[in-house]
Amino acid sequence: MIAKPPGLSQIDARMSKCFYITTAIDYVNGQPHLGHAYEKIVTDVIARARRSRGETVFFLTGLDEHGQKVQQAALAEGQSPQAYCDALAKDWQAVAATLNLSHNEFICTTQPRHQQVVQALLSRLHRGGNFYKAEYRGFYSLKEETFLTDKDRRADGTFDPAYGEVVALTEENYYFKLREHQSWLIDYLESNPRFIYPDYRRNEVLGFLKNNVLEDLCISRPSARLTWGIPLPFDPSYVTYVWLDALLNYVSLPAAHGDPAVLEVLPAARGPGSEALALWPADAHVIGKDILKFHAVYWPILLKQLGLALPQQILVHGWWQKDRMKMSKTTGNVVDPVAVIEEWGQDAFRYYVVRELDIGPDGTWTDAGFQARYHAELANGLGNLVNRSLAMLKRYRQGIVTARSDELAPFVTQTVSQALKQLGENRLQAALQTIWGLVNRANQYVDQTAPFKLAKEPAHARRLDEVLYNLAETCRVLAVLLWPFLPTTAANLYAQLGLSEAPDKFAEAAWGRLPAGHTLGAVAPLFPRKDRALK
Ligand code: MSP
Repeated sequence: MIAKPPGLSQIDARMSKCFYITTAIDYVNGQPHLGHAYEKIVTDVIARARRSRGETVFFLTGLDEHGQKVQQAALAEGQSPQAYCDALAKDWQAVAATLNLSHNEFICTTQPRHQQVVQALLSRLHRGGNFYKAEYRGFYSLKEETFLTDKDRRADGTFDPAYGEVVALTEENYYFKLREHQSWLIDYLESNPRFIYPDYRRNEVLGFLKNNVLEDLCISRPSARLTWGIPLPFDPSYVTYVWLDALLNYVSLPAAHGDPAVLEVLPAARGPGSEALALWPADAHVIGKDILKFHAVYWPILLKQLGLALPQQILVHGWWQKDRMKMSKTTGNVVDPVAVIEEWGQDAFRYYVVRELDIGPDGTWTDAGFQARYHAELANGLGNLVNRSLAMLKRYRQGIVTARSDELAPFVTQTVSQALKQLGENRLQAALQTIWGLVNRANQYVDQTAPFKLAKEPAHARRLDEVLYNLAETCRVLAVLLWPFLPTTAANLYAQLGLSEAPDKFAEAAWGRLPAGHTLGAVAPLFPRKDRALK
Protein backbone atom coordinates (compact mmCIF):
# COMPACT_ATOMS: atom_id res chain seq x y z
CA MET A 1 0.00 0.00 0.00
CA ILE A 2 2.82 2.40 0.87
CA ALA A 3 4.23 3.85 -2.32
CA LYS A 4 7.95 3.32 -2.74
CA PRO A 5 10.16 6.39 -3.10
CA PRO A 6 11.09 6.92 -6.72
CA GLY A 7 14.36 5.19 -7.43
CA LEU A 8 16.73 6.11 -10.19
CA SER A 9 14.95 3.98 -12.73
CA GLN A 10 11.78 5.97 -12.15
CA ILE A 11 13.47 9.30 -12.71
CA ASP A 12 12.53 10.60 -16.09
CA ALA A 13 15.93 12.07 -16.77
CA ARG A 14 15.82 12.94 -20.46
CA MET A 15 18.28 15.66 -19.54
CA SER A 16 15.74 18.10 -18.16
CA LYS A 17 17.20 19.64 -15.03
CA CYS A 18 16.07 17.86 -11.84
CA PHE A 19 15.22 19.75 -8.70
CA TYR A 20 18.34 18.66 -6.82
CA ILE A 21 18.19 18.78 -3.03
CA THR A 22 20.76 17.54 -0.53
CA THR A 23 21.22 17.14 3.22
CA ALA A 24 24.44 17.42 5.18
CA ILE A 25 26.24 14.09 5.21
CA ASP A 26 26.41 12.82 8.78
CA TYR A 27 29.56 11.64 10.50
CA VAL A 28 29.37 7.89 10.24
CA ASN A 29 30.68 7.38 13.78
CA GLY A 30 28.07 9.65 15.38
CA GLN A 31 24.85 8.36 16.87
CA PRO A 32 21.77 9.11 14.76
CA HIS A 33 19.59 11.38 16.87
CA LEU A 34 16.70 13.81 16.64
CA GLY A 35 18.87 16.53 15.05
CA HIS A 36 20.04 14.34 12.17
CA ALA A 37 16.54 12.96 11.71
CA TYR A 38 14.93 16.41 11.68
CA GLU A 39 17.17 17.64 8.87
CA LYS A 40 16.48 14.57 6.76
CA ILE A 41 12.72 14.76 7.32
CA VAL A 42 12.59 18.47 6.43
CA THR A 43 14.48 17.67 3.22
CA ASP A 44 12.19 14.75 2.51
CA VAL A 45 9.07 16.90 2.91
CA ILE A 46 10.44 19.46 0.45
CA ALA A 47 11.45 16.72 -2.01
CA ARG A 48 8.07 15.01 -1.83
CA ALA A 49 6.19 18.30 -2.15
CA ARG A 50 8.13 19.12 -5.31
CA ARG A 51 7.41 15.68 -6.74
CA SER A 52 3.76 16.12 -5.89
CA ARG A 53 3.85 19.37 -7.88
CA GLY A 54 4.98 17.31 -10.85
CA GLU A 55 8.68 18.20 -10.74
CA THR A 56 11.47 15.71 -11.29
CA VAL A 57 13.37 15.64 -8.03
CA PHE A 58 16.68 14.14 -7.00
CA PHE A 59 17.20 13.89 -3.25
CA LEU A 60 20.70 13.05 -2.01
CA THR A 61 21.77 12.15 1.50
CA GLY A 62 24.65 10.13 2.89
CA LEU A 63 27.63 9.79 5.19
CA ASP A 64 30.92 11.50 5.90
CA GLU A 65 33.32 8.64 6.56
CA HIS A 66 36.90 9.90 6.62
CA GLY A 67 38.96 11.47 9.38
CA GLN A 68 40.97 10.83 12.45
CA LYS A 69 38.10 9.91 14.74
CA VAL A 70 36.95 7.15 12.43
CA GLN A 71 40.50 5.89 12.02
CA GLN A 72 41.02 5.82 15.80
CA ALA A 73 37.64 4.24 16.59
CA ALA A 74 38.19 1.50 14.01
CA LEU A 75 41.63 0.82 15.42
CA ALA A 76 40.25 0.66 18.96
CA GLU A 77 37.77 -1.96 17.81
CA GLY A 78 40.44 -3.92 15.94
CA GLN A 79 38.72 -3.37 12.60
CA SER A 80 39.82 -1.89 9.33
CA PRO A 81 38.38 1.61 8.92
CA GLN A 82 36.45 0.48 5.84
CA ALA A 83 34.83 -2.49 7.62
CA TYR A 84 34.02 -0.21 10.54
CA CYS A 85 32.39 2.36 8.21
CA ASP A 86 30.48 -0.25 6.24
CA ALA A 87 28.92 -1.70 9.37
CA LEU A 88 27.86 1.72 10.65
CA ALA A 89 26.61 2.79 7.21
CA LYS A 90 24.14 -0.10 7.30
CA ASP A 91 22.72 1.22 10.58
CA TRP A 92 22.38 4.75 9.18
CA GLN A 93 20.63 3.46 6.10
CA ALA A 94 18.24 1.51 8.28
CA VAL A 95 17.44 4.76 10.13
CA ALA A 96 16.77 6.47 6.78
CA ALA A 97 14.29 3.70 5.98
CA THR A 98 12.66 4.02 9.41
CA LEU A 99 12.16 7.73 8.75
CA ASN A 100 10.63 6.84 5.35
CA LEU A 101 13.01 9.09 3.45
CA SER A 102 12.49 9.17 -0.30
CA HIS A 103 16.13 9.80 -1.20
CA ASN A 104 17.26 8.76 -4.65
CA GLU A 105 20.85 8.06 -3.64
CA PHE A 106 22.85 7.50 -0.50
CA ILE A 107 26.47 8.58 -0.85
CA CYS A 108 29.37 7.47 1.35
CA THR A 109 32.59 9.40 1.01
CA THR A 110 34.67 6.21 0.96
CA GLN A 111 32.97 5.05 -2.24
CA PRO A 112 35.43 4.98 -5.19
CA ARG A 113 33.01 7.03 -7.33
CA HIS A 114 33.33 9.88 -4.81
CA GLN A 115 37.07 9.57 -4.24
CA GLN A 116 37.87 9.63 -7.95
CA VAL A 117 35.91 12.82 -8.51
CA VAL A 118 37.42 14.49 -5.45
CA GLN A 119 40.90 13.75 -6.76
CA ALA A 120 40.04 15.05 -10.24
CA LEU A 121 38.57 18.24 -8.77
CA LEU A 122 41.58 18.76 -6.50
CA SER A 123 43.93 18.37 -9.48
CA ARG A 124 41.92 20.97 -11.32
CA LEU A 125 42.11 23.40 -8.40
CA HIS A 126 45.82 22.72 -8.06
CA ARG A 127 46.41 23.39 -11.76
CA GLY A 128 44.44 26.60 -11.36
CA GLY A 129 47.01 27.83 -8.82
CA ASN A 130 44.61 27.87 -5.87
CA PHE A 131 46.88 26.03 -3.43
CA TYR A 132 50.25 26.69 -1.84
CA LYS A 133 52.33 24.80 0.71
CA ALA A 134 53.37 26.44 3.95
CA GLU A 135 54.58 25.62 7.40
CA TYR A 136 52.11 25.96 10.22
CA ARG A 137 53.13 26.57 13.81
CA GLY A 138 50.37 26.58 16.35
CA PHE A 139 47.94 24.30 18.10
CA TYR A 140 45.78 21.43 16.96
CA SER A 141 42.56 20.04 18.38
CA LEU A 142 42.62 16.28 17.92
CA LYS A 143 38.93 16.02 18.71
CA GLU A 144 37.79 18.62 16.19
CA GLU A 145 40.60 17.88 13.74
CA THR A 146 41.19 21.59 13.44
CA PHE A 147 44.03 24.08 13.81
CA LEU A 148 43.79 26.69 16.53
CA THR A 149 45.66 29.88 17.18
CA ASP A 150 46.06 32.16 20.17
CA LYS A 151 42.98 33.99 18.91
CA ASP A 152 40.94 30.90 19.80
CA ARG A 153 41.95 31.04 23.46
CA ARG A 154 39.36 32.12 25.99
CA ALA A 155 39.88 35.11 28.29
CA ASP A 156 41.61 32.87 30.86
CA GLY A 157 44.07 31.63 28.22
CA THR A 158 42.65 28.12 27.90
CA PHE A 159 40.90 26.58 24.91
CA ASP A 160 37.22 25.67 25.06
CA PRO A 161 36.87 22.11 26.44
CA ALA A 162 34.81 21.37 23.32
CA TYR A 163 38.16 21.19 21.48
CA GLY A 164 39.29 18.29 23.68
CA GLU A 165 43.03 17.72 23.89
CA VAL A 166 44.94 20.56 22.19
CA VAL A 167 48.57 19.94 21.21
CA ALA A 168 51.32 22.26 19.95
CA LEU A 169 52.13 21.49 16.35
CA THR A 170 54.54 22.46 13.60
CA GLU A 171 53.57 21.01 10.28
CA GLU A 172 53.76 21.66 6.54
CA ASN A 173 50.42 21.61 4.75
CA TYR A 174 48.61 22.81 1.66
CA TYR A 175 46.46 25.90 1.86
CA PHE A 176 43.65 27.23 -0.32
CA LYS A 177 43.97 30.95 -1.09
CA LEU A 178 40.78 32.58 0.12
CA ARG A 179 41.59 36.23 0.75
CA GLU A 180 41.09 37.39 -2.82
CA HIS A 181 37.55 35.99 -2.75
CA GLN A 182 36.19 37.98 0.14
CA SER A 183 34.84 40.95 -1.80
CA TRP A 184 33.02 39.13 -4.61
CA LEU A 185 31.43 36.82 -2.06
CA ILE A 186 30.12 39.80 -0.11
CA ASP A 187 28.73 41.25 -3.36
CA TYR A 188 27.21 37.90 -4.26
CA LEU A 189 25.45 37.52 -0.90
CA GLU A 190 24.19 41.08 -1.05
CA SER A 191 22.80 40.80 -4.54
CA ASN A 192 21.30 37.31 -4.03
CA PRO A 193 19.14 37.68 -0.94
CA ARG A 194 17.55 34.25 -1.47
CA PHE A 195 20.90 32.43 -1.40
CA ILE A 196 20.83 31.87 2.35
CA TYR A 197 17.54 31.22 4.12
CA PRO A 198 16.47 32.47 6.62
CA ASP A 199 17.59 36.05 6.24
CA TYR A 200 19.21 36.38 9.63
CA ARG A 201 21.65 33.61 8.74
CA ARG A 202 22.65 35.53 5.62
CA ASN A 203 23.26 38.60 7.78
CA GLU A 204 25.42 36.51 10.08
CA VAL A 205 27.63 35.43 7.17
CA LEU A 206 27.82 38.96 5.81
CA GLY A 207 28.74 40.27 9.25
CA PHE A 208 31.52 37.71 9.51
CA LEU A 209 32.87 38.49 6.03
CA LYS A 210 32.78 42.24 6.55
CA ASN A 211 34.47 42.19 9.94
CA ASN A 212 37.18 39.59 9.47
CA VAL A 213 39.97 38.88 7.06
CA LEU A 214 39.26 35.51 5.53
CA GLU A 215 42.10 33.18 6.55
CA ASP A 216 43.38 30.76 3.94
CA LEU A 217 42.00 27.28 4.47
CA CYS A 218 44.27 24.35 5.29
CA ILE A 219 43.17 21.59 2.92
CA SER A 220 45.48 18.72 3.82
CA ARG A 221 46.68 16.52 6.65
CA PRO A 222 50.00 14.63 6.46
CA SER A 223 49.39 10.93 5.83
CA ALA A 224 52.07 10.27 8.42
CA ARG A 225 49.47 11.00 11.11
CA LEU A 226 46.22 10.42 9.18
CA THR A 227 45.81 7.72 6.59
CA TRP A 228 42.03 7.53 6.54
CA GLY A 229 41.39 10.13 3.88
CA ILE A 230 41.62 10.76 0.15
CA PRO A 231 45.27 11.21 -0.95
CA LEU A 232 46.02 14.54 -2.61
CA PRO A 233 46.56 13.63 -6.27
CA PHE A 234 49.51 16.03 -6.58
CA ASP A 235 51.19 14.96 -3.32
CA PRO A 236 50.24 11.54 -1.95
CA SER A 237 52.11 12.18 1.28
CA TYR A 238 49.00 14.13 2.29
CA VAL A 239 45.31 13.33 2.53
CA THR A 240 42.47 15.76 1.87
CA TYR A 241 41.06 17.75 4.77
CA VAL A 242 37.78 16.08 5.65
CA TRP A 243 35.59 19.14 5.02
CA LEU A 244 36.78 19.55 1.45
CA ASP A 245 36.20 15.85 0.88
CA ALA A 246 32.71 16.13 2.41
CA LEU A 247 31.54 19.25 0.57
CA LEU A 248 32.53 17.76 -2.76
CA ASN A 249 29.95 14.98 -2.33
CA TYR A 250 27.37 17.42 -3.68
CA VAL A 251 29.10 17.36 -7.08
CA SER A 252 30.78 13.95 -7.06
CA LEU A 253 27.40 12.25 -7.08
CA PRO A 254 26.16 14.23 -10.11
CA ALA A 255 29.47 13.44 -11.85
CA ALA A 256 28.92 9.75 -11.17
CA HIS A 257 25.58 10.11 -12.96
CA GLY A 258 27.09 11.82 -15.97
CA ASP A 259 25.81 15.29 -15.13
CA PRO A 260 26.72 17.47 -18.12
CA ALA A 261 27.34 20.59 -15.99
CA VAL A 262 29.96 18.79 -13.90
CA LEU A 263 31.43 16.83 -16.79
CA GLU A 264 32.00 20.04 -18.68
CA VAL A 265 34.67 21.01 -16.18
CA LEU A 266 35.70 17.42 -15.50
CA PRO A 267 35.42 15.38 -18.72
CA ALA A 268 37.54 12.57 -17.27
CA ALA A 269 34.99 11.91 -14.50
CA ARG A 270 32.48 10.25 -16.84
CA GLY A 271 31.65 6.86 -15.35
CA PRO A 272 31.41 3.85 -17.65
CA GLY A 273 27.97 3.81 -19.29
CA SER A 274 26.33 5.80 -16.54
CA GLU A 275 22.95 7.27 -17.39
CA ALA A 276 23.05 11.04 -17.61
CA LEU A 277 21.17 13.12 -15.07
CA ALA A 278 21.15 16.91 -15.08
CA LEU A 279 21.49 17.80 -11.40
CA TRP A 280 23.99 20.59 -10.91
CA PRO A 281 23.59 23.32 -9.70
CA ALA A 282 21.82 22.11 -6.57
CA ASP A 283 18.52 23.80 -5.88
CA ALA A 284 18.84 23.47 -2.13
CA HIS A 285 21.41 22.35 0.42
CA VAL A 286 19.66 21.71 3.74
CA ILE A 287 22.09 22.09 6.66
CA GLY A 288 22.28 22.97 10.34
CA LYS A 289 23.43 26.36 11.60
CA ASP A 290 26.75 25.01 12.92
CA ILE A 291 28.05 24.26 9.42
CA LEU A 292 26.90 27.47 7.77
CA LYS A 293 30.41 28.91 7.28
CA PHE A 294 31.53 25.82 5.37
CA HIS A 295 28.53 26.05 3.04
CA ALA A 296 28.18 29.81 2.69
CA VAL A 297 31.85 30.80 2.55
CA TYR A 298 34.17 27.93 1.55
CA TRP A 299 31.76 26.10 -0.72
CA PRO A 300 30.86 29.02 -3.03
CA ILE A 301 34.55 29.91 -3.37
CA LEU A 302 35.46 26.32 -4.19
CA LEU A 303 32.73 26.12 -6.79
CA LYS A 304 33.70 29.38 -8.40
CA GLN A 305 37.31 28.25 -8.67
CA LEU A 306 36.15 24.99 -10.22
CA GLY A 307 34.08 26.84 -12.78
CA LEU A 308 30.83 25.40 -11.44
CA ALA A 309 27.64 27.36 -10.83
CA LEU A 310 26.68 28.14 -7.25
CA PRO A 311 23.70 26.36 -5.64
CA GLN A 312 20.39 28.20 -5.66
CA GLN A 313 19.81 28.15 -1.95
CA ILE A 314 21.20 27.09 1.41
CA LEU A 315 18.42 26.31 3.87
CA VAL A 316 19.74 26.62 7.40
CA HIS A 317 17.88 24.99 10.24
CA GLY A 318 18.38 25.48 13.96
CA TRP A 319 19.39 23.01 16.59
CA TRP A 320 17.25 20.78 18.75
CA GLN A 321 17.83 20.41 22.44
CA LYS A 322 16.15 17.95 24.77
CA ASP A 323 14.48 19.40 27.83
CA ARG A 324 16.33 22.66 27.16
CA MET A 325 19.73 20.98 27.37
CA LYS A 326 22.25 20.01 24.72
CA MET A 327 21.74 16.48 23.50
CA SER A 328 24.76 14.45 24.47
CA LYS A 329 25.63 10.80 24.34
CA THR A 330 27.70 11.08 27.52
CA THR A 331 24.84 12.40 29.68
CA GLY A 332 22.30 10.14 27.94
CA ASN A 333 20.20 13.20 27.11
CA VAL A 334 19.38 12.14 23.56
CA VAL A 335 16.16 11.66 21.61
CA ASP A 336 16.47 8.44 19.65
CA PRO A 337 14.15 8.72 16.63
CA VAL A 338 13.95 4.95 16.21
CA ALA A 339 12.75 4.43 19.79
CA VAL A 340 10.09 7.15 19.42
CA ILE A 341 8.93 5.68 16.11
CA GLU A 342 8.72 2.17 17.56
CA GLU A 343 6.36 3.44 20.21
CA TRP A 344 4.41 6.15 18.41
CA GLY A 345 4.76 5.51 14.71
CA GLN A 346 6.78 7.03 11.91
CA ASP A 347 4.33 9.73 10.91
CA ALA A 348 3.76 10.88 14.48
CA PHE A 349 7.48 11.60 14.69
CA ARG A 350 7.61 13.23 11.27
CA TYR A 351 4.60 15.37 12.12
CA TYR A 352 5.92 16.53 15.46
CA VAL A 353 9.35 17.64 14.33
CA VAL A 354 8.10 19.65 11.35
CA ARG A 355 5.11 21.13 13.21
CA GLU A 356 7.16 22.04 16.28
CA LEU A 357 10.19 23.64 14.65
CA ASP A 358 10.23 25.96 11.66
CA ILE A 359 13.36 26.01 9.45
CA GLY A 360 15.53 28.56 11.26
CA PRO A 361 15.19 28.86 15.03
CA ASP A 362 16.34 26.41 17.68
CA GLY A 363 13.85 24.10 19.32
CA THR A 364 13.54 21.88 22.33
CA TRP A 365 12.03 18.41 22.54
CA THR A 366 10.04 17.42 25.58
CA ASP A 367 8.26 14.10 25.84
CA ALA A 368 5.21 15.91 27.24
CA GLY A 369 5.13 18.32 24.27
CA PHE A 370 5.33 15.43 21.85
CA GLN A 371 2.58 13.54 23.62
CA ALA A 372 0.34 16.61 23.78
CA ARG A 373 0.55 17.20 20.02
CA TYR A 374 0.04 13.51 19.35
CA HIS A 375 -3.22 13.45 21.26
CA ALA A 376 -4.60 16.89 20.40
CA GLU A 377 -3.59 17.19 16.75
CA LEU A 378 -3.17 13.65 15.46
CA ALA A 379 -5.48 11.40 17.51
CA ASN A 380 -8.25 13.91 18.37
CA GLY A 381 -7.72 16.17 15.37
CA LEU A 382 -6.98 14.38 12.12
CA GLY A 383 -7.60 10.83 13.38
CA ASN A 384 -10.98 11.62 14.89
CA LEU A 385 -12.14 13.53 11.81
CA VAL A 386 -11.26 10.71 9.45
CA ASN A 387 -12.53 7.98 11.70
CA ARG A 388 -15.91 9.46 12.43
CA SER A 389 -16.46 10.74 8.88
CA LEU A 390 -15.74 7.42 7.23
CA ALA A 391 -17.44 5.37 9.95
CA MET A 392 -20.64 7.40 9.47
CA LEU A 393 -20.50 6.93 5.72
CA LYS A 394 -20.21 3.18 6.37
CA ARG A 395 -22.96 3.12 8.96
CA TYR A 396 -25.50 5.33 7.24
CA ARG A 397 -24.74 4.77 3.53
CA GLN A 398 -23.07 1.33 3.48
CA GLY A 399 -19.76 3.01 2.65
CA ILE A 400 -21.04 4.29 -0.69
CA VAL A 401 -20.20 7.89 -1.56
CA THR A 402 -23.27 10.01 -2.08
CA ALA A 403 -23.86 12.71 -4.71
CA ARG A 404 -21.42 15.61 -4.84
CA SER A 405 -22.04 18.59 -2.62
CA ASP A 406 -19.86 21.67 -2.40
CA GLU A 407 -20.49 23.23 0.97
CA LEU A 408 -16.88 22.97 2.18
CA ALA A 409 -15.41 23.49 -1.29
CA PRO A 410 -14.50 27.20 -0.90
CA PHE A 411 -12.72 26.60 2.42
CA VAL A 412 -10.91 23.55 1.05
CA THR A 413 -9.84 25.33 -2.14
CA GLN A 414 -8.53 28.26 -0.14
CA THR A 415 -6.62 25.88 2.17
CA VAL A 416 -5.06 24.05 -0.77
CA SER A 417 -3.83 27.21 -2.45
CA GLN A 418 -2.42 28.62 0.76
CA ALA A 419 -0.71 25.37 1.80
CA LEU A 420 0.82 24.94 -1.66
CA LYS A 421 2.09 28.50 -1.64
CA GLN A 422 3.67 27.96 1.78
CA LEU A 423 5.21 24.69 0.68
CA GLY A 424 6.66 26.44 -2.39
CA GLU A 425 8.33 28.90 -0.01
CA ASN A 426 9.64 26.05 2.20
CA ARG A 427 7.44 27.29 5.07
CA LEU A 428 6.66 23.77 6.17
CA GLN A 429 5.44 24.57 9.67
CA ALA A 430 3.07 27.23 8.31
CA ALA A 431 1.75 24.78 5.70
CA LEU A 432 0.95 22.26 8.45
CA GLN A 433 -0.85 24.97 10.41
CA THR A 434 -2.90 25.80 7.32
CA ILE A 435 -3.76 22.14 6.79
CA TRP A 436 -4.81 21.81 10.43
CA GLY A 437 -7.05 24.82 9.90
CA LEU A 438 -8.98 22.54 7.57
CA VAL A 439 -8.89 19.60 9.99
CA ASN A 440 -10.38 21.84 12.67
CA ARG A 441 -12.95 23.35 10.31
CA ALA A 442 -14.12 19.90 9.24
CA ASN A 443 -14.34 18.65 12.84
CA GLN A 444 -16.38 21.74 13.65
CA TYR A 445 -18.59 20.98 10.61
CA VAL A 446 -19.34 17.53 12.06
CA ASP A 447 -20.29 19.11 15.39
CA GLN A 448 -22.43 21.80 13.74
CA THR A 449 -24.25 19.59 11.24
CA ALA A 450 -24.59 16.64 13.67
CA PRO A 451 -24.96 13.89 11.06
CA PHE A 452 -25.69 11.36 13.84
CA LYS A 453 -28.88 13.36 14.55
CA LEU A 454 -29.72 13.79 10.85
CA ALA A 455 -29.51 10.02 10.45
CA LYS A 456 -32.39 9.55 12.86
CA GLU A 457 -34.82 11.53 10.67
CA PRO A 458 -35.62 10.14 7.21
CA ALA A 459 -36.72 13.67 6.23
CA HIS A 460 -33.09 14.80 6.56
CA ALA A 461 -31.68 12.10 4.28
CA ARG A 462 -30.64 14.57 1.60
CA ARG A 463 -28.91 16.82 4.10
CA LEU A 464 -27.12 13.81 5.54
CA ASP A 465 -25.91 12.92 2.02
CA GLU A 466 -24.52 16.42 1.59
CA VAL A 467 -22.70 16.39 4.91
CA LEU A 468 -21.20 12.94 4.32
CA TYR A 469 -19.96 13.91 0.86
CA ASN A 470 -18.33 17.07 2.17
CA LEU A 471 -16.59 15.09 4.89
CA ALA A 472 -15.38 12.26 2.67
CA GLU A 473 -14.10 14.66 0.01
CA THR A 474 -12.35 16.80 2.63
CA CYS A 475 -10.62 13.67 3.95
CA ARG A 476 -9.48 12.86 0.41
CA VAL A 477 -8.04 16.33 -0.16
CA LEU A 478 -6.34 16.14 3.24
CA ALA A 479 -4.62 12.92 2.19
CA VAL A 480 -3.21 14.68 -0.89
CA LEU A 481 -2.00 17.69 1.12
CA LEU A 482 -0.51 15.48 3.83
CA TRP A 483 1.42 13.18 1.51
CA PRO A 484 4.75 15.04 1.70
CA PHE A 485 4.59 15.22 5.50
CA LEU A 486 2.91 11.95 6.47
CA PRO A 487 3.28 9.62 3.50
CA THR A 488 2.18 6.45 5.28
CA THR A 489 -0.87 8.07 6.84
CA ALA A 490 -1.84 9.71 3.55
CA ALA A 491 -1.59 6.37 1.72
CA ASN A 492 -3.54 4.67 4.50
CA LEU A 493 -6.25 7.33 4.31
CA TYR A 494 -6.51 6.90 0.54
CA ALA A 495 -6.84 3.13 1.05
CA GLN A 496 -9.60 3.68 3.62
CA LEU A 497 -11.33 5.86 1.06
CA GLY A 498 -11.14 2.91 -1.33
CA LEU A 499 -8.73 4.68 -3.68
CA SER A 500 -6.05 2.46 -5.13
CA GLU A 501 -3.56 5.03 -6.38
CA ALA A 502 -1.10 6.99 -4.18
CA PRO A 503 -2.11 10.49 -3.01
CA ASP A 504 1.12 11.86 -4.40
CA LYS A 505 -0.07 14.51 -6.86
CA PHE A 506 -1.21 17.92 -5.74
CA ALA A 507 -3.34 18.15 -8.88
CA GLU A 508 -5.62 15.67 -7.10
CA ALA A 509 -6.29 18.20 -4.37
CA ALA A 510 -8.93 19.80 -6.63
CA TRP A 511 -12.37 19.57 -5.04
CA GLY A 512 -14.97 17.12 -6.25
CA ARG A 513 -12.92 14.18 -7.51
CA LEU A 514 -14.71 11.58 -5.36
CA PRO A 515 -17.44 10.24 -7.65
CA ALA A 516 -20.96 9.39 -6.47
CA GLY A 517 -21.36 5.63 -6.08
CA HIS A 518 -17.70 5.09 -5.11
CA THR A 519 -17.21 2.54 -2.29
CA LEU A 520 -14.95 3.06 0.72
CA GLY A 521 -12.33 0.56 1.82
CA ALA A 522 -11.90 -0.81 5.36
CA VAL A 523 -11.89 1.87 8.05
CA ALA A 524 -9.41 1.82 10.97
CA PRO A 525 -8.06 4.48 13.39
CA LEU A 526 -5.09 6.41 11.99
CA PHE A 527 -3.61 7.46 15.32
CA PRO A 528 -4.78 5.29 18.22
CA ARG A 529 -5.01 7.15 21.50
CA LYS A 530 -2.39 6.13 24.02
CA ASP A 531 -3.53 7.25 27.36
CA ARG A 532 -0.73 5.79 29.38
CA ALA A 533 1.96 8.31 30.23
CA LEU A 534 5.21 8.45 28.35
CA LYS A 535 8.11 6.73 29.96
N1 MSP B 1 29.81 15.71 8.33
C1 MSP B 1 29.49 17.07 8.60
C2 MSP B 1 28.66 17.65 7.48
C3 MSP B 1 29.27 17.62 6.12
S1 MSP B 1 28.17 18.24 4.90
C4 MSP B 1 29.11 18.39 3.54
C5 MSP B 1 28.67 17.16 9.90
N2 MSP B 1 28.13 16.02 10.33
S2 MSP B 1 27.21 15.90 11.67
O1 MSP B 1 26.86 14.52 11.78
O2 MSP B 1 27.90 16.49 12.79
O3 MSP B 1 25.95 16.78 11.43
C6 MSP B 1 25.11 16.50 10.34
C7 MSP B 1 23.94 17.47 10.32
O4 MSP B 1 23.14 17.24 11.49
C8 MSP B 1 24.36 18.93 10.35
O5 MSP B 1 23.61 19.70 9.43
C9 MSP B 1 24.07 19.35 11.76
O6 MSP B 1 23.73 20.71 11.89
C10 MSP B 1 22.86 18.48 12.07
N3 MSP B 1 22.69 18.34 13.52
C11 MSP B 1 23.52 17.69 14.38
N4 MSP B 1 23.03 17.88 15.65
C12 MSP B 1 21.90 18.64 15.61
C13 MSP B 1 20.94 19.05 16.55
N5 MSP B 1 21.05 18.82 17.84
N6 MSP B 1 19.83 19.67 16.06
C14 MSP B 1 19.61 19.86 14.72
N7 MSP B 1 20.51 19.48 13.82
C15 MSP B 1 21.75 19.05 14.25
O7 MSP B 1 28.56 18.25 10.43
